[in-house]
Amino acid sequence: MGTVKCVGILTSGGDAPGMNAAIRAVTRAAIYNGLQVKGIYRGYRGLITGEIVEFKSQNVSNIIQLGGTILKTARCNEFMTPEGRQTAYETMQKEGIDALVVIGGDGSLTGARIFAQEFNVPCIGLPGTIDNDLYGTDTTIGYDTALNTILEAVDKIRDTATSHDRLFFVEVMGRDAGFLALNGAIASGAEAAIIPEFSTEVDQLEEFIKNGFRKSKNSSIVIVAESELTGGAMHYAERVKNEYPGYDVRVTILGHLQRGGSPSAHDRILASRLGAAAIDAIMEDQRNVMIGIENDEIVYVPFTKAIKNDKPIKKELVNVLRELSI
Ligand code: F6P
Repeated sequence: MGTVKCVGILTSGGDAPGMNAAIRAVTRAAIYNGLQVKGIYRGYRGLITGEIVEFKSQNVSNIIQLGGTILKTARCNEFMTPEGRQTAYETMQKEGIDALVVIGGDGSLTGARIFAQEFNVPCIGLPGTIDNDLYGTDTTIGYDTALNTILEAVDKIRDTATSHDRLFFVEVMGRDAGFLALNGAIASGAEAAIIPEFSTEVDQLEEFIKNGFRKSKNSSIVIVAESELTGGAMHYAERVKNEYPGYDVRVTILGHLQRGGSPSAHDRILASRLGAAAIDAIMEDQRNVMIGIENDEIVYVPFTKAIKNDKPIKKELVNVLRELSI
């Protein structure tokens, strides 16, 4: 039996569909196990300002289907300073919170790692990001929904691309990871994906042109991962306009619509399992781990591993896309 009596829960960084399902799961699993729960608003900022409310089971009723996060979120610069973290620790003590569950991406889990180390506070992380860029987990909360949002958009763009015989560059999110772009391209039947993981290996546009896009098709869709390494969709559109002026080129940047919407069944189930496992971990006196899922099994991944290691992208997926887009 663990020593923790009260768990604080917060969402931090970019919101992701399924965060509410995770908040619900953590809250309900904690109460089921006899723990008190406190909801911390606006991520680490709420821990500094004391924007904290006790959560009962009914506080998380009717939220499993909602996008965004009822706890709100923020990117908090103050928490990056020792003074900010000191204030956050004092708030925790005042509120009687003796463990934290942090739902967010790598920036949020980095904050949790530093905080846990400085103040010896048990912190459990849940991978909540559409980017799917955390090491040690097959997938992250929000990724599946964002992928489906991309498909819906690309299917629509395909209609107009085909009607006009155009080449579309569609830019998707992912920060410096190409999971959304590559799997979005495979699932939408796009002709190519340009992703940061391979940006230094080959000129991906050159390769795409060389492989003869539009030889057998009237229109083409190329999914481009946002990232300084790829340069984004505008960069490629400009290049094609200059280097291959024969093409009628258009750009669509999907942007933040990828972050919204009701979570898919996959993300709701994932968030529910990971949220319940976070409380299991706390009851077992685990600390400073991210709860992940690998081969459909719950795993505990030390923060350092989850954040520092680059999650590899499978070359096989690149090959599948190349083979199927002829
Ligand atoms: O990490 C999630 C994410 O949506 C990234 O894909 C994107 O680069 C970033 O957040 C955008 O952040 P913001 O909402 O602060 O502009």
